[in-house]
Amino acid sequence: MLILLDTANLEEIKRLNDLYPIDGVTTNPSIIAKEDKDFLELLTEIKNIIGQDKMLHAQVLSTGAEEMVEEAEFLAEKFGENLYVKVPVIFEGIKAIKILSKKGIKITATAVFTPQQAFMAAKAGVNFVAPYVNRLDNISADGINVVSEIVKLFKVHQLDTKVIAASFKNVNQIHQCLLQGSQAITANPELIEKLVYHPMTELGVEGFISDWEKVYGQGKKVN
Ligand code: E4P
Repeated sequence: MLILLDTANLEEIKRLNDLYPIDGVTTNPSIIAKEDKDFLELLTEIKNIIGQDKMLHAQVLSTGAEEMVEEAEFLAEKFGENLYVKVPVIFEGIKAIKILSKKGIKITATAVFTPQQAFMAAKAGVNFVAPYVNRLDNISADGINVVSEIVKLFKVHQLDTKVIAASFKNVNQIHQCLLQGSQAITANPELIEKLVYHPMTELGVEGFISDWEKVYGQGKKVN
C-alpha cells in the first residue's frame, strides 16, 4: 500500500515527507505550473528531498506518441530508476505506452475515467493507472466504483498493473478507495494531514499532559 503526495510545493514535500510514511510524489502540469519554477530544477529538488529510493511521477506534455516517447525517455534518463512517466490515456498515449513499456520505462497511465481505459493501458504495459475519483464524482459518476471495478478487472485478468487512485477532495473518498483495494493513493498535503488529525486525539493528549504536570510539574519526561 503506497501513499503519495500530489504536490510540487517544496516546503510541503519537505514537511510531510519528514512527518508521514510517504512513498513518493506525483505531479502533473497544473501542479507544476502552480509553483512557477523551472520544471527540471523543481523535479530535481523534489528528488533531492524525497531521496532516490522514493517514487517521482512526472507527466509528459506532448499529445503525439513519438514526442511523448521522446519526453518520457528524457525524463527516465534524467531521474533514474524510481521515475514514473505519466502518460494520459488518449489514443496516442496508448501507442506511446506500448513503445515505452517495451523499452522498460516505468509508466503511470493518467487522466483515467473508465475501467476500460485502465484495462487498455494495463494491456499496453503500464505499471500504474490513475483514476480521477473526485473529477468523476463531480460529473455525477461514481469515482469509488470506477476504482473498485479497475481493481477487480486487474485481479480477474491477473494483470500486474496497480491502481494509484487520484483526484481526491475528501478523506472518505481516500478511505473508500483503500477499502476497495486500491494499491496506492495520491493526495494533496491538506488531505494527507486529515488522514491523521482528529480533535479528540488532540484533546486526549492535552488531558494527559495537564494531568501529568499537576503531579510532576512542567518539563519532567519519562526518561
Ligand atoms: C494525479 O495523477 C492527478 O494529476 C491529480 O490527482 C488530479 O487531481 P485534481 O482533480 O484535484 O486536479
